[in-house]
Amino acid sequence: MKKTCYLNQHFIPCSEANISLFDQGLLRGYGVFDFLRTYNGHPFLLGDHLSHFRESTRIIGLDLTFSDDHIRRVVHQLIKKNDWRDGGIRLVLTGGPEGNFFILPEELPVFSESDYQKGVTVKTYNYQRPFPKVKSLNYFLPWTLRQKDIFKEMAEIIYTNKDKVLEGAQSNLFIFKEDTLITPKENVFPGATRNLILKLAGDYFKTEERKVFKKEITEAAEIFLTSTTKEVLPVTNWNNEKVGLGKIGERTRQIRTLFKEYVTKKTT
Ligand SMILES: Cc1ncc(COP(=O)(O)O)c(C=O)c1O
Repeated sequence: MKKTCYLNQHFIPCSEANISLFDQGLLRGYGVFDFLRTYNGHPFLLGDHLSHFRESTRIIGLDLTFSDDHIRRVVHQLIKKNDWRDGGIRLVLTGGPEGNFFILPEELPVFSESDYQKGVTVKTYNYQRPFPKVKSLNYFLPWTLRQKDIFKEMAEIIYTNKDKVLEGAQSNLFIFKEDTLITPKENVFPGATRNLILKLAGDYFKTEERKVFKKEITEAAEIFLTSTTKEVLPVTNWNNEKVGLGKIGERTRQIRTLFKEYVTKKTT
C-alpha cells in the first residue's frame, strides 16, 4: 500500500512529497523531531511526545505554529489513512523561511525476542549531546560510529561524560542497585518511555533520578535501556564485561511486564 504522509497542511502520498533545497534542516541540521509508535492502531504516549516535540522547538528557537489539538487530529487521521496498526510515526519541524512541518508513518526497527530474553551488548563512547533536552536532526555521530568494527554489533552506543554515564545514542538507561532503580537525570533527553517506567516502577521499587557514575555500572545487578522502539531492553554485556550475572534479571523482567501490561491497557 502507498504510504500517506502529512506535509505543510496537506495529506499526500509519501512518494510525491518534496521540500525546498533551502530547508535549513537539510542545509544546517536546524530542525527537531520526535518519534512515537502505534499499538493496535492507537498512538501511544502521544501527549508526552507532543510536549517533548514542542519543548525541543522552543529550546532551539523554532516556531511550531500548530496546536497540539491540530497535531493530534493529524496523527489520528494518518493512522486511519495508512491503516497503521503497529508502526512508528515521526514528527519533524525544520527551520528557515522555507522550513517544513511533516509527519511520516515509518516502519519500526525490529529487536528479536531473543534480544529481550538474553539481553544485549552495549559499548560506551565519551560524548555529551550539545542540547541534551532536544531531539535534534543531528544523529551523525552514532551513524558514523556504527560503521566502525567495534560498534557494528552493538545494540546501542552509550554516551558517557568523564566519570558519568548519560544516555544511549537513541535511548535512556536504567540501573538496578539491589532494589533501587536509578536513571541519570542531567544532560539526558527525558524520553517518554523513561518517564513512564519511573512512574510504573515507583509502585514496586525505590526510584532515583540522579547522576550515575561509571563505577556504579560494575556494582549494578541489572541494566536496561528504554525507548519508543526498544521498549524495555535488558543489557547483559557492557564494554565486554558481564552485567551482574550476565543474564536478564528478575527485576528487569518485572519492569518489562509492567510496561507491556500498561501498553495493553491503553491500546485495546
Ligand atoms: C538521545 C535519546 N535519548 C532518549 C531517547 C528515548 O526517548 P523516547 O522514550 O521518547 O523514545 C531517544 C529516542 O529517540 C533519544 O534519541
